[in-house]
Amino acid sequence: MHKIPISFFLNGEKKTILADPMQRTVDLLRSELEMTGTKEGCSDGDCGACTVSIGSWEESGFVYRSVASCLLPVGRLQGKSLVTVEGVGNQTALSCIQKAIIDKHGVQCGFCSPGFVMSFFSLFSMNPIPDMKDVEIALQGNICRCTGYEGIRKAAEQMIGYQGTEIIVPPSIRSCQNAVKNLSQFLNTEEWRTPVTIDELCVALQQMPDAQIISGLTDLGVSFHTKGERPLQVIDVIQLEESRRIEIKEDGLHIGAALPLESIVLDRTVLNWLPTLGQLQLQMASKQIRNVATLGGNLCNASPIGDATVILSSANATVLVVNAKGKLRELNLTSFYTGYKQMQLEKGEIVLEVIIPPLQAGQTISFLKTGKRSSVDIASINSASNMVVQGKDIVHWTISIGGVAPTVVTFDLKDKDLSLEIPVEEIEAIGTSLSEKVVPLSDIRGSASYRKALVANHVVSHFLKQSGREETL
Ligand SMILES: Cc1cc2nc3c(=O)[nH]c(=O)nc-3n(C[C@H](O)[C@H](O)[C@H](O)COP(=O)(O)OP(=O)(O)OC[C@H]3O[C@@H](n4cnc5c(N)ncnc54)[C@H](O)[C@@H]3O)c2cc1C
Ligand code: FES
Ligand code: FES
Repeated sequence: MHKIPISFFLNGEKKTILADPMQRTVDLLRSELEMTGTKEGCSDGDCGACTVSIGSWEESGFVYRSVASCLLPVGRLQGKSLVTVEGVGNQTALSCIQKAIIDKHGVQCGFCSPGFVMSFFSLFSMNPIPDMKDVEIALQGNICRCTGYEGIRKAAEQMIGYQGTEIIVPPSIRSCQNAVKNLSQFLNTEEWRTPVTIDELCVALQQMPDAQIISGLTDLGVSFHTKGERPLQVIDVIQLEESRRIEIKEDGLHIGAALPLESIVLDRTVLNWLPTLGQLQLQMASKQIRNVATLGGNLCNASPIGDATVILSSANATVLVVNAKGKLRELNLTSFYTGYKQMQLEKGEIVLEVIIPPLQAGQTISFLKTGKRSSVDIASINSASNMVVQGKDIVHWTISIGGVAPTVVTFDLKDKDLSLEIPVEEIEAIGTSLSEKVVPLSDIRGSASYRKALVANHVVSHFLKQSGREETL
């Protein structure tokens, strides 16, 4: 893309730079601004070495969020406060975060350390007295390959003792928060359009029919970098107001497609409606990724193993889509996918929101994911079980499984009378019979036979969980 002026605050100081808005922030920092504190390890969101913190005004006030700068395009800095490790402390004046890591021997080679510092900065600037579960969630996306995590955990414990955000956010960075409001909040150029209303979206779709639709860019960012190709035009749907709400309506809970997954999995209304979605905070990607990755992106990357896709397919959710003429249509998620990475979505159609029908009495949705890491990993298989129980009878039981076919597939497991009290051996037989129906591939996440075995295990685990017999596992 052509270079354009982009205005933001960098470590508290206002900057207007001329840059290609699709350039990666890690490259801007390291190669052009010579700020090499931010490191680049994996280049695809996995290691956390490149973590920076982005500050902006949200409904709750000024919020700092950790983000992987290897997946963050410079265009997304417009109107934000970017904080890097250089802004938190320097060699002559280390911050209390850096001191705690040194005090507790949480550093050896130091390559991962700036990323840990920035994840700590994002956590402690928002929540000075987190518990250790909050700390673990904040560090999900940070890998250390030489020191290990004990010293880093102890550093967190030391910081919990500080009990104040003033000590975490340097005055120079804090003082720019109000000035951030005076900057235009996002880009609108001939090559990068950010529609806010449906009318603006329709105009953008009509004027730029070949533009790449972008949301959190956690999927697209990896593929742009791997292929060495960047789009010439983008329509950024992340500010669409129709896609940024969570609302209960007559037909169910409406969740905006442009909302970041981290906001969704922490939202009280969502958790009351479909508690299973809360599991994604521990099992999907990392804090840095969920802070920007959207629900719409998770559904529309059309991965056969998307975590939200599996849960929402099982919950019989629908998606509301709009086209360039403003025409709306609602599609059932179970029939939305037509093949590997293929959907019923037509060119120029955008997913606006997801609608989740209410759970009926006795209905539960259970989610399981088996992968090589507990978070920050795509699953070998994932599955969600939808069971309705009346008294002791199972009156409905379906299971949606990802990772065993080109799309998420849903099977009806209730082909005979079933009760919560049937012997586990009978459920094992149902699991084995289901595993014989799937034809998975072998790849780096597991062989076909391993995946088949997992299918059988998931069926039994869901049953034990949903029948309240989990202790027999
Ligand atoms: C390190 C890492 C770990 C990950 N771990 C997981 C994981 O554990 N589980 C998992 O499921 N995924 C995981 N992912 C994949 C990814 O983060 C998610 O799928 C994410 O939700 C994608 O959302 P996004 O907003 O970043 O999408 P983008 O990258 O912006 O877009 C993805 C696709 O969706 C399209 N799109 C986006 N929004 C819309 C819309 N509203 N309407 C129509 N099309 C749209 C885009 O055009 C693009 O084709 C991981 C990714 C990374 C980098
Ligand atoms: S370089 Fe590894 S997450 Fe960005
Ligand atoms: S200190 Fe060397 S990788 Fe963490």
